Amino acid sequence: MSTRHFLSLMDCSPDELAGLITRAIELKALRRDGVPHDSLRNRVLGMIFEKASTRTRLSFEAGMIQLGGQAIFLSPRDTQLGRGEPVGDSAIVISRMLDAVMIRTFAHSMIEEFAANSQVPVINGLSDDLHPCQLLADMQTFTEHRGPIRGKTVAWIGDGNNMCNSYLLASVQFDFQLNIACPEGYEPQARFLAQAGDRVKLFRDPREAVKGAHLVSTDVWTSMGQEEETARRLKLFQPYQVNQALLDMAAEDVIFLHCLPAHRGEEISLDLLEDPRSKAWDQAENRLHAQKALLEFLIPSARAS
Ligand code: CP
Ligand code: NVA
Repeated sequence: MSTRHFLSLMDCSPDELAGLITRAIELKALRRDGVPHDSLRNRVLGMIFEKASTRTRLSFEAGMIQLGGQAIFLSPRDTQLGRGEPVGDSAIVISRMLDAVMIRTFAHSMIEEFAANSQVPVINGLSDDLHPCQLLADMQTFTEHRGPIRGKTVAWIGDGNNMCNSYLLASVQFDFQLNIACPEGYEPQARFLAQAGDRVKLFRDPREAVKGAHLVSTDVWTSMGQEEETARRLKLFQPYQVNQALLDMAAEDVIFLHCLPAHRGEEISLDLLEDPRSKAWDQAENRLHAQKALLEFLIPSARAS
């Protein structure tokens, strides 16, 4: 059987994704009830981080430990990857010693190249293009608070970045409508827009985009790797701040999500995370549960310990 990877939400079928959300909710309950569950005993995850992280590192590392396994943090500063060892060669060697590899990097093609040469599952922990693990947590959070997202309307406000691209793919896989409001020139990638087809509508005015929305989400205006553009983006994105007044224009039972870290006073108003409609803290915690479900799904349980 060929190795399964998780580089994008499209690497799983809609049924598999639904199964991951169900399993994440089960694993959350097991942890809440103090039931030990070591389905990944003796398994080892490698985590290559070429960009900073709090949630992704912690959730994968804690998740592996809670499932009875271990995680190893690999920084390019301390490995030969950072000194120019080819990605393909690195993947061959690294994957011979581990049971799965998570990668957070810049170019999405780096993760694809690694996966093409890896004999164990590779997980995208964020690239410039996509952040699929975050969408598992987001979908779990919506499901827990409001039930299935199928047929609902989601509004994405702000930058057409890796999170926005991921919401486009989620609209296909979880079957919801997606309204995107972004400044001209900051639209998500055309190939992801094309995949979402008539599920997506583009707006310039965030007030139009949030009308009837059951979920509103946004993200930082300057993603990792774009720091030089910060001043220009700060000015341009001002009309795209999500605040209480904007949420008031959405559906009455709207929830607000933010993948975090947030820049309070920029893409969200200072106290939006304290608004009862914000479920961002649950969303952050769900990274742990959703990724434990993903690790269980990807790492073959039949492999000898
Ligand atoms: N949301 C998210 O991926 O957070 P980190 O950058 O802290 O991992
Ligand atoms: N769009 C952000 C997400 C951080 C979790 C970034 O890529 O920096």
